Amino acid sequence: MIESTKTHKDAHNSFEEAEPIVTYKNVHKSFGEVEVLKGIDLEIKPAEKVALIGPSGSGKTTIIRMLMTLERPTSGHIIVDGNYLWHVEKNGKLIPANERHLREVRGDIGMVFQHFNLFPHMTILENCMTAPIHVQKENKASAKQRSIEMLEKVGLGDKLEAYPSQLSGGQKQRVAMARAS
Ligand SMILES: Nc1ncnc2c1ncn2[C@@H]1O[C@H](COP(=O)(O)OP(=O)(O)OP(=O)(O)O)[C@@H](O)[C@H]1O
Ligand SMILES: [Mg+2]
Repeated sequence: MIESTKTHKDAHNSFEEAEPIVTYKNVHKSFGEVEVLKGIDLEIKPAEKVALIGPSGSGKTTIIRMLMTLERPTSGHIIVDGNYLWHVEKNGKLIPANERHLREVRGDIGMVFQHFNLFPHMTILENCMTAPIHVQKENKASAKQRSIEMLEKVGLGDKLEAYPSQLSGGQKQRVAMARAS
């Protein structure tokens, strides 16, 4: 009993002490005249799970799209693992990041889509291997080995050669998780 309370407390404390993996500082986003996000401040710690809840059109997807480097904030800063996402430091000043910087940071961020976006003509294993090989230029053998490990981790070690149409919804979601890892 005491042991489990202590464990809980330790886990809680480690969240408090850890450096955030994601920080939003006074982030604003407008589309034309309409200001959708009016100063978002948010800190996410490693291993912390966060759910964004709010009415349709309130800006949840926009918050995520900025983290995925798909949408540039109008102002404010987003910091991932200690690095500015949308800015680079030059002569002690923060200036907007160029496409090359964005390409670099994109490699470190994974996303599981609501619609899993698996390629229907590729096996589960090929679906997992394709981004590391074509986007991150990982060699084929290592991408294959890593993909197999991730698929085994999510319990799909026996489905490597199956096609997306042969999987259940939950199994497809697990492929998307393995692919994002
Ligand atoms: N590219 C865009 N151009 C113009 N307006 C946009 C664009 N993207 C989003 N918006 C607008 O910004 C607002 C927030 O959209 P967003 O998709 O972030 O909402 P959401 O909270 O994810 O909604 P839902 O729960 O319906 O998915 C909406 O009013 C939307 O119409
Ligand atoms: Mg949305």
